[in-house]
Amino acid sequence: SQTATRDENGVLTVGGVPVTRLAEEFGTPAYFLDEDDFRARCRAWREAFTDADVYYAGKAFLSRAVVRWLHEEGLNLDVCTGGELATALAAGMPPERIAMHGNNKSLAELERAVEAGVGRIVLDSFQEIARLAHVARRFGRRQPVQLRVTVGVEAHTHEFIATAHEDQKFGLPLAGDQAAEGVRRILGHDSLELTGLHSHIGSQIFDTSGFEVAAHRVVGLLARIRDEHGVELPEIDLGGGLGIAYTPDDDPAAPHDIAKSLEQIVGRECEAAGLSVPRLSVEPGRAIVGPTAFTLYEVGTLKPLEGLRTYVSVDGGMSDNIRTALYDARYSIALASRESTAPPMLSRVVGKHCESGDIVVRDAFLPADLAPGDLLAVPATGAYCRSMASNYNHVPRPPVVAVRAGAARVVVRRETEEDLLRLDVG
Ligand code: LLP
Repeated sequence: SQTATRDENGVLTVGGVPVTRLAEEFGTPAYFLDEDDFRARCRAWREAFTDADVYYAGKAFLSRAVVRWLHEEGLNLDVCTGGELATALAAGMPPERIAMHGNNKSLAELERAVEAGVGRIVLDSFQEIARLAHVARRFGRRQPVQLRVTVGVEAHTHEFIATAHEDQKFGLPLAGDQAAEGVRRILGHDSLELTGLHSHIGSQIFDTSGFEVAAHRVVGLLARIRDEHGVELPEIDLGGGLGIAYTPDDDPAAPHDIAKSLEQIVGRECEAAGLSVPRLSVEPGRAIVGPTAFTLYEVGTLKPLEGLRTYVSVDGGMSDNIRTALYDARYSIALASRESTAPPMLSRVVGKHCESGDIVVRDAFLPADLAPGDLLAVPATGAYCRSMASNYNHVPRPPVVAVRAGAARVVVRRETEEDLLRLDVG
């Protein structure tokens, strides 16, 4: 995070609070979120996209405090389940600033979204078009919607592969005319107002060429809609997916450069197609919250394996960060509670769960004098860690603590064993 430094004793401090104090007060493992950094990133995105709307993707991490910060910083919110919608509404996000996603929204979720008056529902299938049209009619609404299309671009970290048909579950493919058919059906319902097209090409992307192809193809469909139906849709959403630095090797672009590049691409494509430029929106999740939090663990045991490495076990693991096990994600890790001049020791930082894939950081160099009780910090765990946390092995999920200006407060409390037992009705 932006406000993390070391104090005169070599203790990592965030938002002016040393981690030793944080560990004492809130326990470990715990996620510590730098509120100033979160707000600064919101502002950077909003100011970069002057003529566009920024929807924070709540799936990365959502809590009522986060929703309030987003609201105050002028961002909109993308939710994709009834649970995320409930959290957004409970925290007072104006419904017109909420967009609802999902490839299989239930009837109840659609009803809740329409009833609440959400500003945008992103439609994902033929069934959903019919279902939502029916719901909106029942509520006497004309619901603004976008259609999610699959542009046939598969985004990877540093490259993209163009495929004729994307073999995945989201959206309607542009290829084979399904997207055009979706548009035709939406336009046939009075209770739906088609405002634009939506495309999301993937996650942890560093290379904008995937967005270029996506914009080209989406604008192609906009032109076709104009030709076939005589309407120019006023919006285009290019989704989220912008990468962050998990390790020093990653080099993400600044929001300002991303905005310039996306606006340029859309502008150029629209000009070529003779269309007026629609209003652009984007949905960054990871790029806003990812770098703002770190996880603090306490070292429990150390197991030096001759000729291999030292296994360092911490008090959390795959239940608070599944990303290493699931995606072979790379993280860095550092001794946070003191400084050490001891030589580096090849380590694998592992959790306390009962399987060998329970790895937090696969390869790390930690000081050879590392000892039980030391605190380790894993940066960039703000996105998709707490939100994908589990109770595997009946481990209570860690709290999220917001730190700002020398003060820390819990925004999501630690689960307790009573919380776990409360759901078990015997
Ligand atoms: N918009 C849509 C429609 C999405 O599906 C997603 C992410 C986003 C926006 C936000 O993407 P972001 O900017 O955060 O990359 N659990 C995975 C990531 C899954 C992302 C799913 N959709 C991970 O831990 O990397």
